[in-house]
Amino acid sequence: MSETTTTKDIVELLLEDHETAKALLTKISAAAPEQREALFWELVPELVRHEVAEEVVVYPTIRSEAPDGEREVEPRLHEQQEAEELLDQMEGLDRSSAEFGAKLAKLQAGVLEHAHAEEQNILPLLRALEVTKKRVELGARYERAKSAAPTHPHPNAPDTPPGNKVLGPITGLFDKTRDALKGM
Ligand SMILES: [Fe+2]
Repeated sequence: MSETTTTKDIVELLLEDHETAKALLTKISAAAPEQREALFWELVPELVRHEVAEEVVVYPTIRSEAPDGEREVEPRLHEQQEAEELLDQMEGLDRSSAEFGAKLAKLQAGVLEHAHAEEQNILPLLRALEVTKKRVELGARYERAKSAAPTHPHPNAPDTPPGNKVLGPITGLFDKTRDALKGM
């Protein structure tokens, strides 16, 4: 515990992340198309770091320590997977297009639903876990995981040849982040 960088417990940190993501999504939805690019690339690393840090720190704890944990984790992972796919699709779309707007609305609804479900189902399990010390330890691990995550996707990566485009930059970023946080 000597290198603890936070005194916040995991519940507070997750609530903060949810507020940050919701605020950014609201901002992008209201933004003029020319402002969307910068905001989009602000949102992407936020969601990536939250999702992957949750995958490596929070969900395994819920699975192993909460009764029926697996049942709560599966749908949450599924929601995060959907957000990842939407971001990946949005990346290639004109920011001023109706299609981008439609995907953004879908992402926003999905993130709201995910945050709500986590607050209803995951946070009570975390609160019930153990004494506060345990939640602070988890909070510290979660923050360490988030800060170790690569934060810069490459929005201007050169085009991959057609037919060769297996991974979009965002999927690549998720994978890179998963690799970087493995075992944290
Ligand atoms: Fe989440």
